[in-house]
Amino acid sequence: PQAGLLAAFESALAEDSRIEPRDWMPDAYRATLIRQMAQHAHSEIIGMQPEANWISRAPSLRRKAILMAKVQDEAGHGLYLYSAAETLGVGRDELLDKLHAGRQRYSSIFNYPTLTWADVGAVGWLVDGAAITNQVPLCRCSYGPYARAMVRICKEESFHQRQGYELLLALSRGTEAQHAMAQDAVDRWWWPSLMMFGPPDTESGHSEQSMAWKIKRHSNDELRQRFVDICVPQAEVLGLTLPDPALRWNEERGAHDFGDIDWTEFHEVLRGNGPCNEQRITQRRTAHEQGAWVREAATAYAAKQGTEHGE
Ligand code: ACO
Repeated sequence: PQAGLLAAFESALAEDSRIEPRDWMPDAYRATLIRQMAQHAHSEIIGMQPEANWISRAPSLRRKAILMAKVQDEAGHGLYLYSAAETLGVGRDELLDKLHAGRQRYSSIFNYPTLTWADVGAVGWLVDGAAITNQVPLCRCSYGPYARAMVRICKEESFHQRQGYELLLALSRGTEAQHAMAQDAVDRWWWPSLMMFGPPDTESGHSEQSMAWKIKRHSNDELRQRFVDICVPQAEVLGLTLPDPALRWNEERGAHDFGDIDWTEFHEVLRGNGPCNEQRITQRRTAHEQGAWVREAATAYAAKQGTEHGE
């Protein structure tokens, strides 16, 4: 029977149809999805921190309302993704425990600080822009619940990217000091954004299998290149410079060449040695502990509802 199940799984992949929670799937496919979806969900909720840092200091009511909506969206994305991961038979508690214990990852990018208001713009333009580039293909991921969650997430990310772009444009066209602040933010966020796509293809241990399973549709380097090519003309419109002297159009390749990424920095951040790793995880644990009463109240309420309905 195992061979028949595997054949059914493989033919579903070959036909590009979706694998659903009740379908048989190889254990390693399930484990890979849990790893990637958990990492993705954790990134969404940890990603709330660097931007929430600026809510109380947003320069106008309009900017504050936009930023609050955006940070709230990130919480929602985390919820869609934890729910999607639960369809694979893992509990949300278990995933959060692993995050808090440092046994599951979240994106490297959220270990960098948001030092000025312009960082909110750079995060929207570059970080959310990179996220969209990586996530649009995930809408065609072979696992149904993940693919469907991605459709909605991408629509919201696109709003986030635009708010960042518009914010940076306003600063870039503002006073000299505002322009300099925008440039400084782009200088600091550019390289870490390129690292979001993961290690180079030659060092990406999971890519080959994930692509064969149609979890990933493009390699890390392909998506990184696509992102660079999208950003170059956008930076021109913004009137800002991308901090890479090696960046230039390559007619032969029909793509931009760009400089070497500092992979030592990436690995250091993954090892927990980025500028904000400690702060992010401590704040996450504290938020979880302080939210215990909400979970208890919700559970008690659900139990009470059950009793009242004679269950
Ligand atoms: N930050 C932290 N860890 C990373 C990153 C990153 N930017 N990129 C890769 N890694 C980790 C992988 O998890 C893997 O860890 P492991 O060996 O301990 O399992 C290791 O580095 C090697 O990388 P790959 O083999 O290339 O891993 P993978 O095939 O999973 O590709 C990628 C990485 C592209 C990030 C993929 O997991 C993915 O597309 N994830 C979904 C998108 C996502 O998580 N986005 C979150 C940020 S966007 C946002 O929240 C706004």
